[in-house]
Amino acid sequence: MAKDAMRNLLSVDGLVDFSSNDYLGFARNENLSKQASIFLEKDSQKNGATGSRLLTGNHDLYVELEDFLTMHHKSESALVFNSGYDANVGFFSSVPQRGDIIFYDELVHASIRDGIQMGHAKNYKFEHNSIDDLRRHIERSRNRDGKSEIYIATESVFSMDGDSPDLVGLANFCTENGCHLIVDEAHATGIFGEGRDLTCQLGLEKQVFARIITFGKALGCHGAAILGSDTLKSYLVNFARSLIYTTALPPHSVAILLGSYHYLRDFGEEQCKLLQQHINYFKIKLEQLGIADIFIESNSAIQCAIIPGNATVKPIASKLQQEGFDVRPILSPTVKEGEERLRFCLHAFNTTKEISQVLKLLKSEFK
Ligand SMILES: Cc1ncc(COP(=O)(O)O)c(C=O)c1O
Repeated sequence: MAKDAMRNLLSVDGLVDFSSNDYLGFARNENLSKQASIFLEKDSQKNGATGSRLLTGNHDLYVELEDFLTMHHKSESALVFNSGYDANVGFFSSVPQRGDIIFYDELVHASIRDGIQMGHAKNYKFEHNSIDDLRRHIERSRNRDGKSEIYIATESVFSMDGDSPDLVGLANFCTENGCHLIVDEAHATGIFGEGRDLTCQLGLEKQVFARIITFGKALGCHGAAILGSDTLKSYLVNFARSLIYTTALPPHSVAILLGSYHYLRDFGEEQCKLLQQHINYFKIKLEQLGIADIFIESNSAIQCAIIPGNATVKPIASKLQQEGFDVRPILSPTVKEGEERLRFCLHAFNTTKEISQVLKLLKSEFK
């Protein structure tokens, strides 16, 4: 492994959180466990799930959660997986068939890539957020017999950049060209579209073939779901190996998810508003301090400063940490060499004072 690229398991307690995915503060919200206990009371199975969802693990709370998700995210159906990783691997390894083609944004998450590698469809990456490049690829490689299904994979908020594709443009492109659009909504779940996702915010539910929503980020819990048609759900129940060959989530995990979603529906608006205010404030401060040009353009809770070189970005992150701010460096090979960065995750619970302090400190590192 290259010098300065070695990864370590860190634990940084007591610092101001600018790095977790707990965007709305739900992971630290005591009300959620209270809400969860109400749901848990209803289920006679209290501890482990006891088996795969296809055997004994499909306890009643799953039905309640999937019904809720279907309504909340305005989808025909929802299928819960143990994690976002499992959902992506399950979908991409089983749905696209031999002879089909998958085009994926070059920056999609590792779980999408791993799923694609496990399946049999041909696959090509296209330039980040470029519908023009996607069009060129499709024209070049569409099967002449026209029988192959084409799948397009992207994210609504890119995890290491914080930016978003032109989702309306992409959805229209897919509709016009008969392609199936899959949107990983991990970093948009619970935030956009009044606590739903970006597909909902843009009214694209009917044009998106499948959405992957995850619960380990703004929902503050764990797990994920694939949103799509009833037929898709039934197919995945029969063929997605990451759903079939694993023990289901325990009842308390599903109960906390129900608690979290009910809380989001009833009280989430305030947290979403606060988060948006902090995103706006962060961007204003970047302009005021004259450091906006090193940041990737983003309207999400993920804001990244490009500071090339593992050896350069690591000490700056350490300095911010020493001063009390938990900001993490993202090193190559996680991102391309030369595009190493500091990744700021903003939260509803951060204060404007914290944001202004950490950015002043960052600016002082460039003197
Ligand atoms: C875009 C994206 N998709 C999928 C995942 C995987 O989700 P999970 O952490 O629930 O496995 C993540 C996060 O790790 C992610 O950032």
